[in-house]
Amino acid sequence: MATKEGLKLVDKDESGVDNAFRADVVLGLLQPQKAVPARWLYDDAGSQLFEDITQVPEYYPTRAETEILREQGASFAEMIGEGCAVVEFGSGSSVKTPLLLSAIGPGAYVPLDISGDFLRAAAADLAVKFPGLPVYPVEADFMRRVELPEQIAAMPKLGFFPGSTIGNMVACTAVDLLRNMRETLGVGAQLLVGMDLIKDESILVAAYDDAAGVTAEFNYNLARRINRELGGNIPLEHLHHEARWNDENARIEMHLVAQSDIAFSVDGREFAMVAGETIHTENSHKFDRRTSNMLLLAGGWEPQVRWLDSERRFSLLLAEAKPNRSAP
Ligand code: AVJ
Repeated sequence: MATKEGLKLVDKDESGVDNAFRADVVLGLLQPQKAVPARWLYDDAGSQLFEDITQVPEYYPTRAETEILREQGASFAEMIGEGCAVVEFGSGSSVKTPLLLSAIGPGAYVPLDISGDFLRAAAADLAVKFPGLPVYPVEADFMRRVELPEQIAAMPKLGFFPGSTIGNMVACTAVDLLRNMRETLGVGAQLLVGMDLIKDESILVAAYDDAAGVTAEFNYNLARRINRELGGNIPLEHLHHEARWNDENARIEMHLVAQSDIAFSVDGREFAMVAGETIHTENSHKFDRRTSNMLLLAGGWEPQVRWLDSERRFSLLLAEAKPNRSAP
């Protein structure tokens, strides 16, 4: 896919296989703890399965965050003000984004996404719901610094990063992202970011291992994708989905656990797993007030307000990009 500068964001080989996917999977399977980066869960089938996850009764984050967006509109408007350019990191959700935009009366909406298709669909959807609002989609990898459209240069900026997607990153990656967001948006900009909260382990595990097995399918879909796109023969019938609470790192981990000793090949290479060995496929970090504030501060953002849903399960934090200063 070529951007307006002619740079390729996604590098594919002759047979249409994403080279980054191949490299991540092969290198990940060669590690002592096998692991595949969570971003590869989201092919078309995986994205649809995630949508299905948001509908299962155990998966509360989407409902809790949507409740905050619904209930706290007046409070957002007061803290953010009218006329800002809302820069969304990811192409946006048809439910959450309109709630924010209706609450604050923005001057423009700028969705950033690496997938041009998602981006155009989301932008078209938004343009229908907000006929007068200028929408400037930007096809970009938002993990890096992004050049924003000149039309919004004079507007105050609000970054929007809902969903606790920041929780999928280890701290060092999350801080890199926050610092890049600060570079992209500039000192003085605000950021509204969703972070899921630490809570009872049984509630967290159930949210990532629902009774209907939708999250398990989401996890198995990664192995299916590897088999299909990288010529693999991972025996899915011998892998089991597990959601594990890692207390030391305050995160839910998804694993594919071998139920017996297995051997398989991927991209022409041979791999083996002994019974009980796992492929680690996702981290979903959970936060409390202090750890979320510390993460924001480490990324150059000063926390301003923290909103919770009525059951205190999920947080939305507003922060401001502060100039660099090292003195106390
Ligand atoms: C959309 C990435 C935030 O971590 O809660 C849901 C993904 N994984 N169930 C999350 C997910 C398993 C979700 N994020």
